[in-house]
Amino acid sequence: MPNFVKMKKELLYEGKAKRIWSTDDHSLVIQEFKDDATAFNGLKKDQIKNKGVLNTGISSAIFEYLIAHGIPTHFVKALSENEMLVKRVEIIKVEVVIRNIAAGSLVKKFGFAEGEELKFPLVEYYLKSDELGDPLFSLEHILTLELATKDEMEKIHSLALKINELMQKFWFDRGIDLVDFKLEFGRAANGEIILADEISPDTCRLWDLHTGEKMDKDRFRFDMGKVEEAYAEISRRVKIHN
Ligand code: TMP
Repeated sequence: MPNFVKMKKELLYEGKAKRIWSTDDHSLVIQEFKDDATAFNGLKKDQIKNKGVLNTGISSAIFEYLIAHGIPTHFVKALSENEMLVKRVEIIKVEVVIRNIAAGSLVKKFGFAEGEELKFPLVEYYLKSDELGDPLFSLEHILTLELATKDEMEKIHSLALKINELMQKFWFDRGIDLVDFKLEFGRAANGEIILADEISPDTCRLWDLHTGEKMDKDRFRFDMGKVEEAYAEISRRVKIHN
């Protein structure tokens, strides 16, 4: 990879936890992870010390694992302690949540007991829109809004379930229950649907298999303390090789 590819040119997009920069190669962009954390659609704002670095390492290791198991992703390589080089994609404005155990909004909205194991992995879709507060919506909304085609959504659904199986095993091997997590997909230049964004304690609920301790962003959302420590422990366990 020539050196110039690493050069940040202009800021293309700034989200709540990441920045996307262009490079000299139009097909590649730099994804920079920030320490900023928000919750409840930006209502709660703070920083988590070292989060950018920890999430870059965690997310890079997970993308490498998924790629090794045949999942197409945007990940190219880690560039620095808080930046990764990724393929440029057009992000599909659908946040895909996969749940194995009831928690969070599933408990609030549908009356499940927290910790209840679901009969089968539940796939949900949320509109990716800060202005509209990311509402839960259906496949038919997605098709009506023309956010993706039926074929693309079939691909996304099957990839989401495959990724869930792989990630459940990945975390189980590290003493962690994968409760639920959020994925984003993008359209690559050739039209292929690939996994994008990140997978980290910001986007997953991760509970210690033995103690049930919460080791993810819920510690920040609900002021549970030891937030940085939880992210650091997840980072340590991610590095365990089986
Ligand atoms: P929820 O229970 O609040 O709907 O969250 C489900 C999962 O999605 C949980 O692992 C946290 C993750 N998530 C995000 O990554 N971004 C978000 O904006 C929200 C609301 C949830």
